[in-house]
Amino acid sequence: MEVRIYEVGPRDGLQNESQIVPTRVKIGLIERLADAGLRWIEASSFVNPKWIPQLADAAEVLAGIRQQSDVTYSALVPNLRGLERATQAGMREIAVFMSASETHNQKNINKSIAETLPVLAEVVSRASASGIRVRGYVSTVFGCPYEGEVSITSTLKVTESLLAMGVYEVSIGDTIGVATPKQVHEIFSVLVKEFTTERLAAHFHDTRGTGLANVAAALAEGIRTFDSSIGGLGGCPYAPGAAGNISTEDLVYMLTGMGYQTGIDQEKLAGAGSYIQQALGRELPSKMLKACRAAADGTLQKEGNQS
Ligand code: HMG
Ligand code: MG
Repeated sequence: MEVRIYEVGPRDGLQNESQIVPTRVKIGLIERLADAGLRWIEASSFVNPKWIPQLADAAEVLAGIRQQSDVTYSALVPNLRGLERATQAGMREIAVFMSASETHNQKNINKSIAETLPVLAEVVSRASASGIRVRGYVSTVFGCPYEGEVSITSTLKVTESLLAMGVYEVSIGDTIGVATPKQVHEIFSVLVKEFTTERLAAHFHDTRGTGLANVAAALAEGIRTFDSSIGGLGGCPYAPGAAGNISTEDLVYMLTGMGYQTGIDQEKLAGAGSYIQQALGRELPSKMLKACRAAADGTLQKEGNQS
């Protein structure tokens, strides 16, 4: 059984870092992720650089990476200006995004839900006409930082609209990491019935430690595409309190142990995690990163004892 992992660390992770990461480090990270076997990498974002200065170098990052032919590199696009920049950068895949809750949509992209739909429809239509594949995101499905509970009706409407525009799948986002497995079961069972598992992905943040439990619940609903972030980097700058995405290292470890194939080399993945951890100069949330480090320290101690 295969599971598809969509790596969002270079985008969802780095967009939330207080420091601006040098372009060459972003390039180094993306190349290491591809070398580790990740086949879908969200590399950056063509949003307004005034809103997200951390990813203002999207074009330079895309131009700088040694692209592998079997890897799909993607980036967020909020409007036609973003599509123009993504097209110039030679993107073959992009992602459009909006929220299930009105207030988060307004704060994140400066428009109401109703105003956003025609903008995204135009982006998807023009992108598709030029052979660019488009993925969709729906944020705040499990809770909104401003409104609290979000109705499933709103998620159904927004997901339906994105699919009708022509996105090939919709990633269902727990933007602020409030979901629990019970809620994942309740929401995904409805969405799967309506749209089928092939059209859906799950995007969990691990703010309250329920991220991997939520993955297990979504797997039980038949979901086979998961977004995750190297080292557990991440958040959303317009969602206060949103902590990192689930960590790619922890996700791959769990899936492998459960008998799923991901095509990812765990040792190389750990190398990519250590690389960005060192570059950022702070400890990242990934449990596997900590475990690998502890194991390495243990080995060193043992070697020290023997000599
Ligand atoms: P706006 O300020 O309302 O845009 O922003 P505007 O159309 O009024 O234009 C204002 C100026 O920005 C103009 O320049 C435009 O050209 C420029 P001026 O004429 O004043 O010199 N501009 C741009 N420049 C470069 N690239 C662009 C672009 N667009 C306009 N694409 C906009 C509206 C949507 C652009 C803005 O609100 C924005 O960029 N928002 C993005 C916020 C964001 O990136 N949030 C994080 C990503 S979402 C997320 O993390 C959730 C997710 O992970 C899923 C989950 O967790 O649930 C995906
Ligand atoms: Mg996110």
